[in-house]
Amino acid sequence: MNTPSPPTAEPPPTARELLAFYLEAGVDCALLEEPPNRLLDPEIATPPPVAAPTANIRRPPPAPAAIPRAPAATAPAPDVAIASARDAARTAPTLEALRALLETFDGCALKQTATRLVFADGNPQARIMFVGEAPGRDEDLEGIPFIGRSGKLLDRMIGAIGLDRTTAYITNVIPWRPPGNRDPSPQETQICLPFIKRQIELVDPDVLVCLGKPSSHAVLELKDGIMRTRGRWHNYDTGTRTIRAMAMFHPAYLLRQPIHKRLAWQDLRAISKALDAATSAPAT
Ligand code: URA
Repeated sequence: MNTPSPPTAEPPPTARELLAFYLEAGVDCALLEEPPNRLLDPEIATPPPVAAPTANIRRPPPAPAAIPRAPAATAPAPDVAIASARDAARTAPTLEALRALLETFDGCALKQTATRLVFADGNPQARIMFVGEAPGRDEDLEGIPFIGRSGKLLDRMIGAIGLDRTTAYITNVIPWRPPGNRDPSPQETQICLPFIKRQIELVDPDVLVCLGKPSSHAVLELKDGIMRTRGRWHNYDTGTRTIRAMAMFHPAYLLRQPIHKRLAWQDLRAISKALDAATSAPAT
């Protein structure tokens, strides 16, 4: 009789296999296991010790200790950063000046981990402006908003009502990619808010479209989820006049939930009508 041979232990994964595993799981940038408090003095904010690996549990190796950390001088307390963002944003007389200001603004820690500033794309003279949440990996590499998968869908969506990047202006609430595509923190959003508000004021579109819940909460101050708020008109005070504004599904959401494209199409048709109406009755 054959006696079953004992199970052979699996060989440990190679570094290449581990990296491939991480990449497939969406981990495309190095992070610590515990979030460091970047607002503290770097001497104080040492990362917590990494626990010794437990036997039989396959876990990723500890993150490298020497993660570059922003110097304390570049990470002011959130309320200081919000106040300085407000003061700075209102001084920008043009979009170019606003972009230049953001290039030198050090109040938001996201800048430290992003590859580059993602300011805007499209036509600054456009009568319609789309505002998303924050850049993703593709946008971070190119410095252009909405050029990845969801951007391609956005292009098709606006194309369906006769628009493209020569007739629309596209940007985000947050101009730097949050590491690993995590959600921006409320503080990071508040720090970036004066800049997007100033950007809306300078573009001065007839119609403003917030893509997804985070953008509609930040810019339009809506409280409900996108399913309740989408497709309704709101008044947005640009600082110089009141314009029509709508929240609609973010294209990334539509990629996950294509069944809702029908509702998105209704919203796009309403947006197109509003643009036509603004043409025949230009703002005074
Ligand atoms: N999602 C966004 O909200 N903005 C981008 O630029 C890309 C993806």
